[in-house]
Amino acid sequence: MFADAMDRLPPQPAPTPLAEYKQRQDRLTSQFKKDDLFILAAPQEAVHSNDVHYRFRTSSDILYLTGWFDPEASVVLRYDEGTWKTCLFVQPKDTLKEIWEGRRPGVEGALAHYAVDEAYPSSDLEECLDVWFPECKRVYHRGGINAHLDSMVDSAILRRDRARQHFGTGPFVVQDPASLLAELRLRKSASEIEQMKYASEVASLAHELAMRHSKDGVNEGQLQAIIEGFFSYAGASGWAYPSIVGCGENATILHYTVNNDECRDGEVILIDAGAEYRGYASDITRSWPISGTFTEAQNEIYSLVLKSQEAAIAACKVGNAYTAPHDEARRVLAEGLIELGIISQTVDEALDPTDGELRNWYMHNTSHWIGLDVHDVGVYKPGGTPRTLESGMCLTVEPGLYFGAWRPDVDCPKRYANIGIRIEDDVLVTETGPVVLTNACPKTVDDIQSIVGQPLS
Ligand code: GLY
Ligand code: MN
Ligand code: MN
Repeated sequence: MFADAMDRLPPQPAPTPLAEYKQRQDRLTSQFKKDDLFILAAPQEAVHSNDVHYRFRTSSDILYLTGWFDPEASVVLRYDEGTWKTCLFVQPKDTLKEIWEGRRPGVEGALAHYAVDEAYPSSDLEECLDVWFPECKRVYHRGGINAHLDSMVDSAILRRDRARQHFGTGPFVVQDPASLLAELRLRKSASEIEQMKYASEVASLAHELAMRHSKDGVNEGQLQAIIEGFFSYAGASGWAYPSIVGCGENATILHYTVNNDECRDGEVILIDAGAEYRGYASDITRSWPISGTFTEAQNEIYSLVLKSQEAAIAACKVGNAYTAPHDEARRVLAEGLIELGIISQTVDEALDPTDGELRNWYMHNTSHWIGLDVHDVGVYKPGGTPRTLESGMCLTVEPGLYFGAWRPDVDCPKRYANIGIRIEDDVLVTETGPVVLTNACPKTVDDIQSIVGQPLS
């Protein structure tokens, strides 16, 4: 099944060129003063149990600046001899470790294949910083990632030695670089969009394969296995976030991840699953009837969510506030729920953030930024004002309606009991309008009904 599906995928894109990493580094250092020092450390590997670790995923900021995936890495940016230098600290080559754990690019590989000026073994970081700290006044450093580095930065700031006493040497200020990096990462380059497009294509096809495999009695975990198996088969590194595979009442739990119930005819399944490719996320939700045919009530809710999503996607336009898609989705949902007799308020009343009944059935936001992180960086309301959408920004559009009959806090209408529908796509904002990166994933009622339970043709 996977091999046949591969024919439907486009070729994998070229990796981001080294010159682009250099441009990103330059864009960042152009905002620095010459006596700044920038340090960025990878997170430490997390223990799963005993001597087994979770799969390592480095910091998205390190990926953005260098493309370096391996553990125990740090990036230092420093001004030296009239120019900014990018220094990468990496696990050195080590034959015994490589026999057991896998090949390492080492210092030599870092210099040969990455956009860096200098490379050192990670064990040299402390010694290098001892030399570089006295030459700087401000340290760009994000605390809380690596305790040892935090204490090195703290002691550099607190040091009261003769050099500081006589010459005022050494750093006085620590600044978090996260907002500078976030601002750069918010606008995607052509190469980033290509990586995201591939992640989106893989996830779209994975959802379609799960639709085709759906039938009475299938387990949620089996559909999860198809989706995540295809992610790997198609060259993605795995999921971008734990897959949500919930059928029946599980579909009304927004971030359900137990994924081990049997699916039954008459139920709707909600799958929210996205692939990660070269660090870039896709984030797709589709909802479909296990039997292949929506009941009348399911169709009413599905069609309403789809209508709200289409209106929200149309609002992903240059110049609109990032809140415009959310406002559109909420308005369409409120109008529709009133028409269906589920809400007895006026549209304005239903939309009220505290007393509006829409919140009973639609209780989350419509969009978040997406990129190297599924919930990507970028302040949504700088200074309290919603950000204006610009070409190159990517966001999800994911309205939903959730009628949990199990909920003690609301009176769920019987006709819609345990219907949970979310429809989520990833949208690139362009000068010529929204581009849906995940548009290969089936979404109309007709497309879904013709695919669910059917073999790949
Ligand atoms: N998959 C998490 C989300 O949609 O935000
Ligand atoms: Mn999302
Ligand atoms: Mn999602």
